[in-house]
Amino acid sequence: MSEKLLEVNSLTTSFKIKGEYFPAVDDVSFSIKPNEVLALVGESGSGKSATAFSLMGLHTNARIKGEVLFQDRKISEMGASRMNKIRGGDMAMIFQDPMTALNPLMKVKLQIMETLKIHGSRSKQERQAYAIELLDRVGIPRPDRVAEAFPHELSGGMRQRVVIAVAIANRPKLLIADEPTTALDVTIQAQILDLIRELQDDLGSGVLLITHDLGVVAEMADRVAVMYAGEIVEIAPARELFKNPQHPYTRSLLNSLPSEEMLGSRLHVIQGVVPALNRMDRTGCRFAPRIPWMDASAHEDNPQLREIADQHFVRCTCYKSFELKPDEADIEAEQMNVEGGNG
Ligand SMILES: Nc1ncnc2c1ncn2[C@@H]1O[C@H](COP(=O)(O)OP(=O)(O)OP(=O)(O)O)[C@@H](O)[C@H]1O
Ligand SMILES: [Mg+2]
Repeated sequence: MSEKLLEVNSLTTSFKIKGEYFPAVDDVSFSIKPNEVLALVGESGSGKSATAFSLMGLHTNARIKGEVLFQDRKISEMGASRMNKIRGGDMAMIFQDPMTALNPLMKVKLQIMETLKIHGSRSKQERQAYAIELLDRVGIPRPDRVAEAFPHELSGGMRQRVVIAVAIANRPKLLIADEPTTALDVTIQAQILDLIRELQDDLGSGVLLITHDLGVVAEMADRVAVMYAGEIVEIAPARELFKNPQHPYTRSLLNSLPSEEMLGSRLHVIQGVVPALNRMDRTGCRFAPRIPWMDASAHEDNPQLREIADQHFVRCTCYKSFELKPDEADIEAEQMNVEGGNG
């Protein structure tokens, strides 16, 4: 077996808008080794969940190209029945939106018991006991009571924990965690991150960790991929990325968060948003419209990821001359503070 747990080659996932297909994930390649945590970061709409759903083979209305290999098996070409044996078993996902992941008509314990049944050999009694144990391990108080509840009877944070219990139930070798801790307070968040580490320690599991929370990235990730408008614009070992960010988008993301407040904050970058799929200019550097103070000649026509240091890849030459624009709002706030202090 190769040393890669997951290998993604030129993944392109397109959605149909008004009769035409537009890529939400555009020629994305990366790999994850056993025991490795790869964080995938980027603003809302950059294509993180669309990537995750593509890996799991869960899109129903998308056109997908490229290949995905899991433990050297080409799962991107697998039929539904073979994929069903892997999904929820060796390869599992924590969904960003718990309500899409849970069956509203099924008691919590049955949802966990169901996934245990598909992928395991325990008796019904054992499955029930283990379901309650799992609820306990994801930090749910009174797990025996919650086991008997329906999803709609639970708070958002509790539902998210149930989704995590379902995902880790069969001790996956690859865990795709899409915003796993967003709705959780810091104590539970720490507990969930510990559970993920436990999977790594026990089984050498690899993790694709999608999060807005750069504090979680700093704590968990071995490598970080930064996604903008469907493309990876920078990918590097985590320490290198935090110490030496290069792409204007990465630098804007990191700059938008004062480090002492990093934990728990959502990413807010400079003015503007990720453009809608059908309004995106895909001819040059996709981030160029967000940094209009840069000269057009700084960008490449058809920017590709290039290795600029060991294991550190950046797209487009604009990183070489990029400078952050002083944020007028910040300057204004600073002036107000000074005035407040004087008065
Ligand atoms: N099923 C779909 N049909 C059409 N467009 C879609 C579909 N799913 C996602 N998109 C579009 O694809 C782009 C990427 O969406 P995606 O959900 O992957 O973003 P994301 O990075 O996960 O954002 P967030 O941080 O808000 O979760 C967006 O423009 C979104 O509107
Ligand atoms: Mg998402």
